[in-house]
Amino acid sequence: MATILAIESSCDETAAAICRDEVMLSNTVFSQLIHKKYGGVVPELASRAHLEAIVPVVAQAMEEAGCSMADIDAFAFTQSPGLIGSLLVGAGFAKSLALAMDKPLIAVQHMEAHVLANLIRKKDASNKVPEFPFLCLTVSGGHTQIVICHSPLRLEVIGQTLDDAAGEAFDKAAKMLGLPYPGGPLIDKYAAEGTPVFSFPEPKIPELNFSFSGLKTAILYFIRDHQKSNPDFIRENMNDICASIQHRIISILLDKLQSASAQTGIHEICIAGGVSANKGLRRDFLALGQKLGWHTYIPPFEYCTDNAGMIAIAGYYKFLHHIFSPLDTVPSARV
Ligand code: KG4
Ligand code: ZN
Repeated sequence: MATILAIESSCDETAAAICRDEVMLSNTVFSQLIHKKYGGVVPELASRAHLEAIVPVVAQAMEEAGCSMADIDAFAFTQSPGLIGSLLVGAGFAKSLALAMDKPLIAVQHMEAHVLANLIRKKDASNKVPEFPFLCLTVSGGHTQIVICHSPLRLEVIGQTLDDAAGEAFDKAAKMLGLPYPGGPLIDKYAAEGTPVFSFPEPKIPELNFSFSGLKTAILYFIRDHQKSNPDFIRENMNDICASIQHRIISILLDKLQSASAQTGIHEICIAGGVSANKGLRRDFLALGQKLGWHTYIPPFEYCTDNAGMIAIAGYYKFLHHIFSPLDTVPSARV
């Protein structure tokens, strides 16, 4: 049995979690609100906010788990990718704990952790987890990938975005509609009340890769053209515009996922990352899976957006294989 304390600080969430084997004992997330008024994450402010939050966040995770530091077998942290100043806070904190407690330090890659969130087990083991190899569509604010997960330690990227990430497409579209950051969840909310009556083009991108920059431009022109004849166009059509944008982003994602399954012959299929919290994507993914005979998996909501539970489970598998990092390990903004 192994107990891992994990810290995630790659962007604007300060998070800590404790797992015992594949079960989460606690999963604490503090979302930094300071960025809202700037319409996006301000890196300098994020680092400072992590420093303020990290001690209380870790203390809360320990309390909820009913653990003391002496119970922890290893300390995991997000090493990459992310904002470098933010990563440094979590890395420094995890290293200090590992040094003080004389326990191993484990470096985790954030995108891999999003995928492995699908393997987290509920306390009563009531949830199904995917069998290997499985495919995962990982959709977040910074990345969009299709991955084959051969084992918890061997993940192979077989497709990715050539420009914007899916979450970025949601957030930039929301910004054009005058919605606050992060706009993804708001598009989701308005889309639920609307119908996808407006049509946006689907890009023709080779292989299993994605592109969202063309859609971004199409939305920009669409809004500009309609506003010329009706300045209230957005306000009057918000639900349908959001439903149409969301519909297109989802179809781009699921078409490639379907191709990936056909090409690899893999029918164990997962989604992960912040955008997998999107209700439309979840619904359409499950419906497609049912139609094609897939076994489909979506992590519980709290493990979709950035969290430390996913870092903990990724750290747990490394712990099992004694994959530890020296104390001079440095974080990296890129993978
Ligand atoms: O994985 P995540 O929390 O952070 C990164 O690693 O980037 O993903 C954040 C992204 C943001 O772009 C946010 O707008 C998007 O996930 N997101 C959503 C929803 N919830 C979060 N996008 C669409 N619908 C949602 N419900
Ligand atoms: Zn993420």
